[in-house]
Amino acid sequence: MLISEHNSRKEKDTDMAINFDEQKKIFKLDTLNSSYAFQIYDEGYIVHLYYGGKIPDNNLTQFLNRGMYNSSHPENEKLLNSSGFGAFSQDIQPMEYSTWGAGDYRLPCLEITNINGDSTTDVRYVGYKIYDGKPDIGMPATFAAEDEAQTLEIYAEDKVTSAYVTLIYTVFEKLSAMTRAVKLENKSEDVLRINRILSCCVDFSGMDYDLVHLYGQWGKERTETRVPVSHGIQTISSTRGVSGHFHNPFMAVVGKDCTEEHGEAYGFNLVYSGNFEMSVEADARNTARFVGGIGHDGFEWKLEPGDSFMAPEMVMVYSDEGMGEMSRTFHKLYMQHLIRSKWKDVRRPILINSWEAALFDFDDDKLVAFAEEAKKLGMDMLVMDDGWFGKRNDDHSSLGDWFVNEKKLKGGLSSLIKRVNDIGLKFGIWYEPEMISPDSELYRAHPDWCIQVKGREKSIARYQYVLDITREEVRDNIFNQMYDVLSKNNIDYVKWDFNRYITEPGSLALPADRQKEVFHRFTLGTYDMMKRFTEAFPDILFENCSSGGGRFDPAMLYYSPQIWTSDCTDAIERLTIQFGTSLCYPASSFGAHVANRPRTPISTRGDVALWGTFGYELDPRKLSDADKETVKVQVKEYDKYYDLIHFGELYRVIKPTDDAFQCAWEFVSEDKSEALLTAVTMRQRETSNCVIKLKGLDPEKIYIDEETGERYSGALLMKAGFVITPVFKGWGIPMYGTDGSSIKKHFVAEK
Ligand code: GLA
Repeated sequence: MLISEHNSRKEKDTDMAINFDEQKKIFKLDTLNSSYAFQIYDEGYIVHLYYGGKIPDNNLTQFLNRGMYNSSHPENEKLLNSSGFGAFSQDIQPMEYSTWGAGDYRLPCLEITNINGDSTTDVRYVGYKIYDGKPDIGMPATFAAEDEAQTLEIYAEDKVTSAYVTLIYTVFEKLSAMTRAVKLENKSEDVLRINRILSCCVDFSGMDYDLVHLYGQWGKERTETRVPVSHGIQTISSTRGVSGHFHNPFMAVVGKDCTEEHGEAYGFNLVYSGNFEMSVEADARNTARFVGGIGHDGFEWKLEPGDSFMAPEMVMVYSDEGMGEMSRTFHKLYMQHLIRSKWKDVRRPILINSWEAALFDFDDDKLVAFAEEAKKLGMDMLVMDDGWFGKRNDDHSSLGDWFVNEKKLKGGLSSLIKRVNDIGLKFGIWYEPEMISPDSELYRAHPDWCIQVKGREKSIARYQYVLDITREEVRDNIFNQMYDVLSKNNIDYVKWDFNRYITEPGSLALPADRQKEVFHRFTLGTYDMMKRFTEAFPDILFENCSSGGGRFDPAMLYYSPQIWTSDCTDAIERLTIQFGTSLCYPASSFGAHVANRPRTPISTRGDVALWGTFGYELDPRKLSDADKETVKVQVKEYDKYYDLIHFGELYRVIKPTDDAFQCAWEFVSEDKSEALLTAVTMRQRETSNCVIKLKGLDPEKIYIDEETGERYSGALLMKAGFVITPVFKGWGIPMYGTDGSSIKKHFVAEK
């Protein structure tokens, strides 16, 4: 069956984002600044040709074969000597979607065990379809209106097993971004077992690249690191059940000369919150292959006849203006095409969160006292963190018992919320929906409701187990409990936490031959719960959290417009975390608070938190009078710079590297009429002269330093720079240039 359908509004338009040259059998996908191409070769092989800077040509057939063949590379018998290149071997050809066992020994994307017990998988082209817009893949993914994107579906089949693959490519015409996802259907009469199904494969024509990725741990999430691509396989992954603290599902393959402003960067970000893997293999021929998708470690999926499986979406961003431009493209894409919440475009409330100030030690009166003081300082919302439910006074109990602890909140939740609302503050609440404490009514009633395997002890972490939300009745129970609270009370915000990883991955509700599906089913269970809540409560602002930033990924952003970036609220340590996070996530998604971490003055903590959703995490009653005055200024600055930071373009000016004495970042409005530069002195090295070269301004425009009234051309500020010499105001007064101090400079273009 050969399918060929062209349903585009631009049928005859040569400017189409997706083109198919019938003669050459080349598909070419053009974004704003990139081109991507592959060709259908004899016997239906789908061969990758090119991904990189935009090129006008379609004459790409030469890239089918990228070097000499020798007899160690297996060939398709039917193609012996027919290719004109010497040979066609999957082992050396750049393949569009690599499979296991049929001659391509590099990293495979697809491996299926069939009814005969073997896993050889070999998919060949069947047809294609091009249409406007973007399909709903039934999982979190970017979205687009019909005039914002075009989609190509490539159909391919493994004839022996009747496994039917759809490669889905969407091109965002106005950004240098595209996405890939993969669907697998079992069109046979027999069960198939998917051992591995990755979302994306890109074969590069060389290996002269570096890898940039974000490693970390609790309190140190998303630290940027850069390593050279070297022979062999380099992998980042999570096997913990969620995307995790240790690696983010982000990787960039960048040219050796790539900096913030210059050079090529290919950014990959998986829209998935579960186990993932991203690898680059450099082979003996000095070519590199990138693959990424659901982690195949511990994964297997039984696909019944007629069933299908959807692999998550990989976002791909190309930049030939360095990593800065790559990041700005990710930010725009996520702001315009990923985050669904109405809060994306609405001013977020400045919140005061009880956690660091009170931990579990609070009652209604203490919270009301927080709210009274917060109101005086200009804040908008009180968030009651962990400890309000069941009999929870520490982290040993009550997860799963989502009813209010009236010993703590005397008079109940509605009464507390009314008191807070009467003060003039909104009210937010904390949940950890996917968890259960062994010491809980829920566990006592349903000990089988947590993730576990038969006959083994369950590992415990933070005194809790993970709920088996692969089961619908478990999701229903938690939904109903939470729905009851959320629907009966005036709650404006929910912090959705997740504080441990999965161990002994198994479900008592699944048969033996489906136990390896638990990780993915768990992730789908999370999505189902988040979908239900965000649809039932579209006005609630959801903030995702996972022991800080342990689930900071695009799939979570799809449901919640902000994510708690890290439990580390020290302003200096936060710099590294926020710089790393900004590689692909927008500022409006960074949960960032001013906390009681006096290593730096409160002004610095405010300037760092301003690069995010902004709020406070301290006892406002304990602030000194001077600090209270600073808070009042910060609250005003939040509004003043809200649009610039949330909707402007980010430039990482000086990175907080180990030997940097200061770091700096800048937001520039899209029309370049305004810029806000923030610099922080990270460590003691007093200076009397510090030049910072701004970025992203209009060289022709004249910018006024709002503080001094001085006028500078954009060209001067970018080429010569700006001197932020500290002004000595007296000993003991924090000034820029002393350890931990910060400075903000607001430049406004002359009209
Ligand atoms: C996690 C979160 C914190 C706080 C605690 C409560 O660690 O990251 O912000 O909510 O849980 O237990």
